[in-house]
Amino acid sequence: MNAASRPVQFLLNGIAVKAGDVAPTRTVLDYLREDQRCVGTKEGCAEGDCGACTVVVGELVDDALQLRAVNACIQFVPMLDGKALFTVEYLRGRDRSLHPVQQAMVDCHGSQCGFCTPGFIMSLWNCYVDHAGTDTRPDRTELATALSGNLCRCTGYRPIIDAGEAMFTYPAVALDRASIEQQLRDMRSSESLNLSHGSITYHAPRQLAELTALRERKPDCTLLAGCTDIGLWVNKQFRDLGDIVYVCSVDELKTIKHADTHLRIGAAVSLSDAYAAMTRHYPQLQEMWERFASVPIRNAGTLGGNVANGSPIGDSMPWLIALCARVVLTSSRHSRTIDLQELYVDYQVNSMSPEEIVEAIELPLPAPGLVFRTYKLSKRYDSDISAVCAAFALYMDGERIITARVAFGGMAAIPRRASACEAALAGKLWTESTAQAAMAALGNDFTPLDDMRASANYRSRTAANLLYRFFLETRADNALPASRTSVFDFARQESPV
Ligand SMILES: Cc1cc2nc3c(=O)[nH]c(=O)nc-3n(C[C@H](O)[C@H](O)[C@H](O)COP(=O)(O)OP(=O)(O)OC[C@H]3O[C@@H](n4cnc5c(N)ncnc54)[C@H](O)[C@@H]3O)c2cc1C
Ligand code: FES
Ligand code: FES
Repeated sequence: MNAASRPVQFLLNGIAVKAGDVAPTRTVLDYLREDQRCVGTKEGCAEGDCGACTVVVGELVDDALQLRAVNACIQFVPMLDGKALFTVEYLRGRDRSLHPVQQAMVDCHGSQCGFCTPGFIMSLWNCYVDHAGTDTRPDRTELATALSGNLCRCTGYRPIIDAGEAMFTYPAVALDRASIEQQLRDMRSSESLNLSHGSITYHAPRQLAELTALRERKPDCTLLAGCTDIGLWVNKQFRDLGDIVYVCSVDELKTIKHADTHLRIGAAVSLSDAYAAMTRHYPQLQEMWERFASVPIRNAGTLGGNVANGSPIGDSMPWLIALCARVVLTSSRHSRTIDLQELYVDYQVNSMSPEEIVEAIELPLPAPGLVFRTYKLSKRYDSDISAVCAAFALYMDGERIITARVAFGGMAAIPRRASACEAALAGKLWTESTAQAAMAALGNDFTPLDDMRASANYRSRTAANLLYRFFLETRADNALPASRTSVFDFARQESPV
């Protein structure tokens, strides 16, 4: 028998809806298309890559509406509880007129076969409403970033970016934020969501104590955060998740705290917010931030999920480890803080006990004398998984390296440090010969795998070359600008027309 403490309740295009008997892993995309007949939202890949399913989700943050584009194909319906969902159907005027975003796409020839178009429209709409009522307008680079999660096989992107510029030139259509905020306040329930569907339960606790108690009671449950890894387990691997405990309704896990010595980032803070905060202290992270997946994935995914999943090709772990980050593991009985590197034991094996959760990640603030860089190598600039991810942190006294922390992703079964390389750096002057010795030492640290992303030879050679690039960028007598190339570079250029 299916039961719920209360139904899942949210706004769909401004109208309150309740979903009482919904499978916990029913995707928002299937729900929209099959249950609500909102078929504007399309399915291309069902794994967060193509953006055909892009919708915008709004929630109250500090009592104000925050709107963010996400991929409907890898969000589950109960995750919408208390939120506002907007689809392309919302944009049509009462008189059936097109929204400025849509009209601009028509006028700039931003659509051909049209399959990707609703997804592009929703990413652009998110941009439009964020800038409405302000004097700022996104430039072509910002528009390309906003569209980093949308693929089009027809247009070549330039006309779509033209439309992103042109959409602000039509008579403005304002979003009634105040009314949506009030609807969200009215809908807010003090009661946690608990669903049961067949033999599966779904819980969305509100308090940390409630979450850890549930975890202790159900150590085999699946902890669900942004669903950007888990969504693929369901859609692509058809995995049965068993009971699900959603962590992102717990306010304590959604805060970023600034202490004197470190930043404390709650496990349920989105990648977008976490990277924004961390990049303020470490501007060297800017490129990694832009290249981590795409805007919709960063809006949904969390730093806690990235760290807990601990993929050997994940992008946050190498530089977090190099910067001596720590992870706070909490259960109903205790809380302990360990160095992040100690979390990873073997491929998909970590040192968390079954009743623990990741509560937060602590990132030390930059130390005096720190020289730091992180690099990602992947086939595409945006929205691609790393073949190799490298992070180098040298703690220097003048020209001399006191200690070195070097960590890699893509080189072993877990993200991990390169101890032979570190030993070759410690105590030495930061010179060409030191860099060459450290590059050679890397050969003792790793025996990488061959796989579809890169051969072992490619990985070994590029790992050493990244270390050399780090040397060239940071040696005393020269600092090369970080180079950047994007698949969108051509699209960023002005329209010739
Ligand atoms: C299209 C696409 C592109 C991607 N690109 C990148 C990329 O460039 N770089 C990269 O590193 N990753 C990438 N990813 C992977 C993914 O986005 C990240 O790993 C993300 O940080 C996962 O966070 P989440 O909140 O979505 O986790 P979820 O999918 O919800 O969960 C992931 C894992 O973490 C566990 N978990 C979550 N929260 C907690 C917690 N608080 N305590 C204990 N366990 C917890 C879950 O049980 C699960 O095992 C990509 C994914 C997609 C779909
Ligand atoms: S269908 Fe491709 S990202 Fe969702
Ligand atoms: S218009 Fe055909 S895929 Fe974009």
